[in-house]
Amino acid sequence: MRLHILGSGGREHAIGWAFAKQGYEVHFYPGNAGTKRDGTNHPYEGEKTLKAIPEEDIVIPGSEEFLVEGVANWKSNVFGPVKEVARLEGSKVYAKRFMKRYGIRTARFEVAETPEELREKIKKFSPPYVIKADGLARGKGVLILDSEEEAIEKGSKLIIGELIKGVKGPVVIDEFLAGNELSAMAVVNGRGFVILPFVRDYKRLMDGDRGPNTGGMGSWGPVEIPPDTIKKIEELFDKTLWGVEKEGYTYRGFLYLGLMLHDGDPYILEYNVRLGDPETEVIVTLNPEGFINAVLEGYRGGKMEPVKPQGFAVDVVLAARGYPDAPEKGKEITLPEEGLIFFAGVAERDGKLVTSGGRVLHCIGTGETKEEARRKAYELAEKVHFEGKIYRRDIAL
Ligand code: AMP
Ligand code: GLY
Repeated sequence: MRLHILGSGGREHAIGWAFAKQGYEVHFYPGNAGTKRDGTNHPYEGEKTLKAIPEEDIVIPGSEEFLVEGVANWKSNVFGPVKEVARLEGSKVYAKRFMKRYGIRTARFEVAETPEELREKIKKFSPPYVIKADGLARGKGVLILDSEEEAIEKGSKLIIGELIKGVKGPVVIDEFLAGNELSAMAVVNGRGFVILPFVRDYKRLMDGDRGPNTGGMGSWGPVEIPPDTIKKIEELFDKTLWGVEKEGYTYRGFLYLGLMLHDGDPYILEYNVRLGDPETEVIVTLNPEGFINAVLEGYRGGKMEPVKPQGFAVDVVLAARGYPDAPEKGKEITLPEEGLIFFAGVAERDGKLVTSGGRVLHCIGTGETKEEARRKAYELAEKVHFEGKIYRRDIAL
């Protein structure tokens, strides 16, 4: 049995690394210059690629695009939901209506299909206004604005396709919820699930949570969550999987709840039908064997054991100058001999490693304490060199 991983980022490298470490043969589609060190890279050609993968192997899609596209509809050995269920991430309108249908705690909302409807329905809300694009928008699809006029103006542009390239259609108007954000990820098979260690990620570009939103500049775990909160989060997973079953589907794969802890209760802000990046890099490092056992049992429909974290892990992301808008590319990278690094935007040119994307490398530190893991991650980050290297100094502080 071999592993086939779809995607090309640090998350995919980390998943493949965990399986390779336990002796599995791993293939990446398309992978990157780092995944080659833990397996074999191949081009990704949609349905053709999936059809060519042997039935006895397992396919793990890293990012949501593959699932929304329908890879799990093409092939039964994909560990991920079919595209109808992947709408939980692919369509905010679908996800919100799903939550309402099954009584799952989420912010009060309205859907606006036209600018006129937006102008009308926004009256039911008070500032700050939260407007969400329906479809996948690579982390750019949520507007939070204080002015009603601006919310109507930008929301209308979103609807008619003039705000974000390639994004057009209905929007969700969400009630603003104040509180602390938390993400929870689980390995799922049908109604059964096991929650993975909690990990904190850092979305903003600069120290102190300033600057633009990014894919994530670092992470650390395990984060301790009070047992009564965990119980409430388990109820949200349970209700969601019950809802999926009621809709006539079976959930297989990873499920990620983006939560807001508001007045002591977790509310679901969003569903993701995949693992988080850079959360995965920390989760797999905390217990690679436990992680892959949970995945394999989830895949087979067996009994999934909790993944017990061993110590702490910290991920410091090294990004390219210009990220997230226009990252510089093609800068030569030099790496230290030792240390655990997951590759993201890295390519090979004339036998040398060069930057090829915004998030370039994930430097991982582990230790008995968070402080030790943090120190090691930063020591590693300092030993990596490429022109225009940027990173946050306050990860896990
Ligand atoms: P989403 O993609 O739906 O998770 O939204 C992206 C980010 O927008 C979240 O991580 C929150 O920081 C923020 N957000 C989304 N919905 C709300 C809401 N109803 N109230 C407050 N903040 C929100
Ligand atoms: N780190 C957030 C995400 O993967 O969506």
